Amino acid sequence: MRTKMVAGNWKMNKNLQEGVALATELKEAVKNPSCAVVIGTPFIHLASVAELLKGSPIKVAAENCADKEKGAYTGEVSAEMVRSTGAEYCILGHSERRAYYHEDAAILKEKVLLALANGLKVIFCIGEVKEEREAGKQNEVVKEQLEGSVFNLTAEQWANITLAYEPVWAIGTGLTATPQQAQEMHAYIRSLVAKQYGEQVADDTTILYGGSCNEKNAAELFANPDVDGGLIGGASLVAEKFMAIINAR
Ligand code: 13P
Repeated sequence: MRTKMVAGNWKMNKNLQEGVALATELKEAVKNPSCAVVIGTPFIHLASVAELLKGSPIKVAAENCADKEKGAYTGEVSAEMVRSTGAEYCILGHSERRAYYHEDAAILKEKVLLALANGLKVIFCIGEVKEEREAGKQNEVVKEQLEGSVFNLTAEQWANITLAYEPVWAIGTGLTATPQQAQEMHAYIRSLVAKQYGEQVADDTTILYGGSCNEKNAAELFANPDVDGGLIGGASLVAEKFMAIINAR
């Protein structure tokens, strides 16, 4: 049975004090969740939030890591450093990293390998932009994203991969994929994983939906057989909303 999960991605929001306050609220509220719960925070929050959440079922994720192991890369944060904070996950391949920081398939492939080598689990994001969806190319796009950055992994490494389908046109726009669009794509992604790693591995792979998923539409999205949970941006910044989404899973 695959893990059901609700993960938050705070993006570049909340200063340290605000982040610690939100994590404290969540720690109080999430005692015995019916799914795995992860929060992705900016780098500077990781150590404090991971310490605060010791003994809580909530796990902590970085939102990125470097594509180099260590050394003279001013301003970068390595996977090893992330792991040393107590964070257990790393979000990679987010469309905002791809679009604004020019992270291509090859860079992401390196990041994934480094994250895994340092004992992090990876939430790997894929998804098409609006023009690609309008041109009916969404399947092609996610296939290329998987082939370019993660289908090189061994089955053993794959066990530490969670996928997140995030149609870029739905991120932060209030325009959610319909439950049918989400299910269709998730089933397609699972079929690609099956071709690569076999039916059993595909069946065990957690595939999250992200893109304007909120406390109002979460239950409907999660009701689909191939939608195993959500990767939540805006709604993860408010404890009650994030809690409602967790409870919908
Ligand atoms: P929103 O939930 O704000 O649309 O963001 C989704 C997202 O990008 C999560 O990684």
